[in-house]
Amino acid sequence: MEDLPRILDFAREIAQSAGEILLKGFRSSGLTVSYKGVSNPVTSSDRESEDFLYDRIRARFPEHGIVAEEGSRSEGSGDFRWFVDPLDGTTNFAHGVAHFSVSIGVYSNRKQGVVAGVVYDPCRRELFSALAGGGAFMNGHHIRVTASDELSRSLIATGFPYDKNVSDKNNLAQFNRVLPRVQCVRRFGSAALDLCYVAAGRFDAYWEMKVSPWDIAAGCLIAEEAGARVTMFDGSPYDIEVPEVLAANAGLHEKLLALLADA
Ligand code: IPD
Ligand code: CA
Ligand code: CA
Repeated sequence: MEDLPRILDFAREIAQSAGEILLKGFRSSGLTVSYKGVSNPVTSSDRESEDFLYDRIRARFPEHGIVAEEGSRSEGSGDFRWFVDPLDGTTNFAHGVAHFSVSIGVYSNRKQGVVAGVVYDPCRRELFSALAGGGAFMNGHHIRVTASDELSRSLIATGFPYDKNVSDKNNLAQFNRVLPRVQCVRRFGSAALDLCYVAAGRFDAYWEMKVSPWDIAAGCLIAEEAGARVTMFDGSPYDIEVPEVLAANAGLHEKLLALLADA
């Protein structure tokens, strides 16, 4: 059995180093941007960060599986699979907007769930992390969700999918249902940080559809460990392979589930 705290320490260390790589490319004249879809950018820094993270994880844990957003894969033969988003918030990054992160979630096949998660925001030097059953932390301090149960006083985060121009399953129905009933809705552009902001009590809740395992693996664990209920839109426990998630404190979760179900 691997030592999970050791895995988490290593994940924290490489997330911070990857964050430094991102900061070097951020707003730099050498940054190159190409497109995976009409509005889905990828930059030279995404790839640099991914290559770094992939090489470090491979070298340290050669038996672990790796699934990284920009295509790096390692099958692995052991219990653990690393879900890596080398730059979550690429649209912000490509526009020079200082809100993005590195997200690393470690999944245990044996436990059928995420057991360690790290999200690092290099612009604010905020490091969010959690081990399953061990609580959630930001820069070493315990974090906790809000206790608010009033929709009208709640600040809620969401996101919109990259195929919004060609699919009508683009979150607008859900957005229209939720927006008039809450204090306001934010679209900050990093799903991993949205989940961490729920964990830290900055947002009261977050929902999104069409997310990928690398976007949410770490953040779902961190939110859950901070006391959030993290589920799919039908209320069943979140599954990182299912591309929808609602994370909310206990007082708001049912209310938001009902709104999403009506949408
Ligand atoms: C995206 C961000 C965004 C979310 C999208 C993700 P990327 O990830 O997390 O907030 O709305 O669904 O794909 O492309 O910046 O890594
Ligand atoms: Ca992402
Ligand atoms: Ca990404």
